[in-house]
Amino acid sequence: MEHPDTDSLRPGPRRRVLITGAGGQLGVALAAAFAADEVRALTREEWDVRAPAPAALERPELVLHAAAWTNVDGAEDDPQGAAEVNVAGTTHAAELGAPLVAYSTDYVFDGRKGAPYVESDSPSPLSAYGRTKLHGEAAAGERAWVVRSSWLFGPTGHNFVRTMLRLGAERDEVAVVGDQRGCPTYVGDLAAATHELVGAAPPFGVWHLAAAGDCTWADFAEAIFELAGLDCRVRRITTAEFGARAPRPPVSILRSEKGAPELPHWRDGLAACLAALAQQP
Ligand SMILES: NC(=O)c1ccc[n+]([C@@H]2O[C@H](COP(=O)([O-])OP(=O)(O)OC[C@H]3O[C@@H](n4cnc5c(N)ncnc54)[C@H](OP(=O)(O)O)[C@@H]3O)[C@@H](O)[C@H]2O)c1
Repeated sequence: MEHPDTDSLRPGPRRRVLITGAGGQLGVALAAAFAADEVRALTREEWDVRAPAPAALERPELVLHAAAWTNVDGAEDDPQGAAEVNVAGTTHAAELGAPLVAYSTDYVFDGRKGAPYVESDSPSPLSAYGRTKLHGEAAAGERAWVVRSSWLFGPTGHNFVRTMLRLGAERDEVAVVGDQRGCPTYVGDLAAATHELVGAAPPFGVWHLAAAGDCTWADFAEAIFELAGLDCRVRRITTAEFGARAPRPPVSILRSEKGAPELPHWRDGLAACLAALAQQP
């Protein structure tokens, strides 16, 4: 089934694409993936999404809403602050009236299914962050592709890969959680899959776009050290030992039952990320 009002989004003429949260790791990757379009990439300084869009903003044909409160532990202390960004911010992005890609998370699930989550599974978030993202999904409205992804990493911003590269260069050993399992997803791959999804103009609704394969954070850290050539051991600890403020789902592997674009394996995403980092000045 196709949506007549999204036919204009098929590849062809340059589309007017607005990106929110353009300074974040996904925002940067989206600007690159949609470079053939007429991209307006707005950082938080240019549009704080807690307020409606600036009046002078030219009406976009597509909105890629990458702005979010992503501090999972911080949201436990300030759920209202997180909601202002993740719920009200998404309402404001939807109010632009264009087809919207609203990004959401595996943390809308409680991780107790014991099998990969597909789009029709019922969410049951454990954390304040997960609850705000779930409410944000609803705020995205009827003309939105709600794209759930997981464990994002890329060559810019704050993420697990960059933290491990720093720690691995400083230490002989790092303690990493070994009892949470998910799909580490390279932002370049998510941006490319978003481009493919929008170009295909499938029905609006929830779509799961996450890397192929799955692993624990400890497995992921070992792969980072191996691929980066760092001589650092990984000591596996439990979620309880790590003691993060917010609860996380133990198993939050995302898969699609709807034929969503497939992403490369997380190991290939990691290699691409390390290659991009090596090219940075
Ligand atoms: N990171 C993950 O592991 C992960 C996993 C699953 C889903 N997601 C979702 O994927 C999307 C992109 O995440 P990401 O990893 O790219 O996050 P990110 O690197 O933290 O980027 C988020 C961006 O949003 C900006 N922002 C925060 N508050 C804002 C506001 N009020 N108005 C405008 N911009 C604001 C941030 O600016 P400042 O840096 O100045 O705060 C940052 O540039 C989010 O929807 C996130 O929930 C992320």
